[in-house]
Amino acid sequence: MNIVVGITGGIAAYKAPELVRLLVKAGHEVRCAATEHALQFVTRVTLETVSQHPLYSDLFATGGTEHISVREWADMVVVAPATANCIGKLASGIADDALSTLLVAMPPERILLAPAMNSGMWLNPAVQRNVQTLQGWGVCTVGPAEGELACGTSGPGRMAEPVEIVNAISNGHLPLAAQRWLVTAGPTYEKIDSVRFIGNYSSGKMGFALAQALADAGAEVELVTGPTALSISTNKHINVHRVESAREMHAAATALFPQCRGAILSAAVADYRPAEQADHKLKKQGDEGMTLRLVQNPDILATLGGMKTDSQTLVGFALETDHELENAEKKLAKKNLDYIVLNSLRDEGAGFGVDTNKVTILSRDGSHCESPLMSKKEVARLIVETVAP
Ligand code: CTP
Repeated sequence: MNIVVGITGGIAAYKAPELVRLLVKAGHEVRCAATEHALQFVTRVTLETVSQHPLYSDLFATGGTEHISVREWADMVVVAPATANCIGKLASGIADDALSTLLVAMPPERILLAPAMNSGMWLNPAVQRNVQTLQGWGVCTVGPAEGELACGTSGPGRMAEPVEIVNAISNGHLPLAAQRWLVTAGPTYEKIDSVRFIGNYSSGKMGFALAQALADAGAEVELVTGPTALSISTNKHINVHRVESAREMHAAATALFPQCRGAILSAAVADYRPAEQADHKLKKQGDEGMTLRLVQNPDILATLGGMKTDSQTLVGFALETDHELENAEKKLAKKNLDYIVLNSLRDEGAGFGVDTNKVTILSRDGSHCESPLMSKKEVARLIVETVAP
């Protein structure tokens, strides 16, 4: 992984070079970012030597946009030590130096804080509230531990040891790091002529939320989407492939799947397309009406089920109106899936266009997990935690 080690001004900054050394030894690419106060405790030369990269400490050194290029480069930022001041600034969105500007630009799930301060400061209600706020946004923390503090007292506030911080990065934090996942989203449009198509009401919201939840867990995501008004905020971990028809989606998904650890197919793919697709605008046919002959589209999910290896996980969706569980179980077996996410059209607030969803996740081993009505973002997180633990 590409990791930025952020260092703020506390005595525990003297342990930062050891943390950088351990991360480099574990095979990570590391760059350091330090505040002015941190450089009172640890030198620029030490940090540049252990990381083998120039230190990022001056917001304007290369024209004032380096925080964005560093953010683009970084898979995560670990702040060790994180002072009460640094925690407070991040919880308030304050960006007034190189490191805090980078932290505010970073997705919260990609930040790990190792707080270090005097016990009284750590137990201060404002600091505790700020830590809880940040955790609520997805920021991870490691420590602080109880023990002897630099001020001569003892209590909670000691920075976690560098080896524990490295362990926190490799266990648990970003559990899907280095995994590639495929997601299909949105509707497909099946061309009738140069100005008309057959489509459906899918908004793509569920698939985009799934791509985001996978990226938040550390995965590289290939998002193949049919036509939708949605866009994904710039995220170097999500590659968007825009397609129009079921056949284009089939071609993109089958080409990408072999490089993926798993796939979640949430697209509402048109089952049929017009047998003939005119490249000009069709004229009215008069009172006799007109007949469109439809032919079946390839089933992307079933194709991937046939390609799937033992190390891949395949997840499909099912939108059922009756005998929901029974039909979903049949679909799971028929298409060789590991999980199927069942949407029932009977549930109010679930389905096309709306921001909420209520699902039952059925697994190949027969277990079921039913969600309450939640936002599509929360449903996406639940699905990712269930299918890629
Ligand atoms: N799907 C797909 N390619 C298709 C049709 C469906 O990849 N041509 C995927 C959807 O993305 C979804 C799942 O299959 O994950 C369920 O689709 P659904 O339309 O409910 O099931 P079908 O297999 O088409 O069965 P039926 O219409 O008979 O219920």
